Amino acid sequence: MDAKTCNESRVVRTSRIFPNDVNNHNTLFGGKLMSDIDMLASITAGRHSRKECVTASTDSVDFLSPITPKDSVCMESFVTWTGTTSMEVFVKVIAENLLTGDRKIAATAFLTFVALDDNGQPSGVPGIIPETEEEKKLFETGKERAEKRKLHRKNSKELASYFTTRKPWE
Ligand SMILES: CC(C)(COP(=O)(O)OP(=O)(O)OC[C@H]1O[C@@H](n2cnc3c(N)ncnc32)[C@H](O)[C@@H]1OP(=O)(O)O)[C@@H](O)C(=O)NCCC(=O)NCCS
Repeated sequence: MDAKTCNESRVVRTSRIFPNDVNNHNTLFGGKLMSDIDMLASITAGRHSRKECVTASTDSVDFLSPITPKDSVCMESFVTWTGTTSMEVFVKVIAENLLTGDRKIAATAFLTFVALDDNGQPSGVPGIIPETEEEKKLFETGKERAEKRKLHRKNSKELASYFTTRKPWE
C-alpha cells in the first residue's frame, strides 16, 4: 500500500456562527464544535484509507479561546500518523475576527480512526509522507502519542470492568 501525503487527506471548512450554535455566553457551543471536529476528521480518515472508518477515540479537544458570532471559523484536518489499521487525525480550528482580521487558534484536537474491511474488521491503511514543518512535527511526535493512547486504552478497559450496567434506579 503506497504511503500518502497529509495533503491527500486534508479537509478544510470555513463557516459562520449562527444563533442556534451558541451557548449562554454567546460563544460557540463546545458540543457543536466537537461534533463538527468529528465529522471533518471522519472525512479525512475516509480520504486517507478509502475504506469505511470508525472513531476509536478522541484524545482531547482543547478549547484555547472562545469563538464569537463576529468570527469566521476555519477548520482543517489531516492524517498525521498511522499504525497498522489506525489513523491519527489532527484538527485545527482557527477563528478570524471578520472586522479586524485578527486570527487565533481557537481549538485543536487529536482523534483516532480505525479503517474497516467488508466484514467490519480492522483493515490496513497507507502510511504517511509529511511535507510541511507542521506536518513533520506532528508525524515525529505521533508514535509517542499512540503509545500513550495504548496505555490509556488498557486503563480504560480495566476501569470499565468495575462499572455496572444496572439501571440507575434499581
Ligand atoms: C475501534 C474498534 C473498531 C477497534 O476494534 P478492535 O477489535 O478492538 O481492534 P484492535 O484491538 O485489533 O485494534 C485495531 C486498531 O485500533 C486501535 N485502537 C483500538 N481502540 C482504540 C482506542 N480506543 N484508541 C486508539 N486506538 C485504538 C488499535 O491500537 C489498533 O491500531 P493499529 O492496527 O494501528 O495497531 C472497535 O473497538 C469499535 O468498533 N469501537 C466502536 C467504534 C464506534 O462505534 N465509533 C463511533 C463513535 S460512537
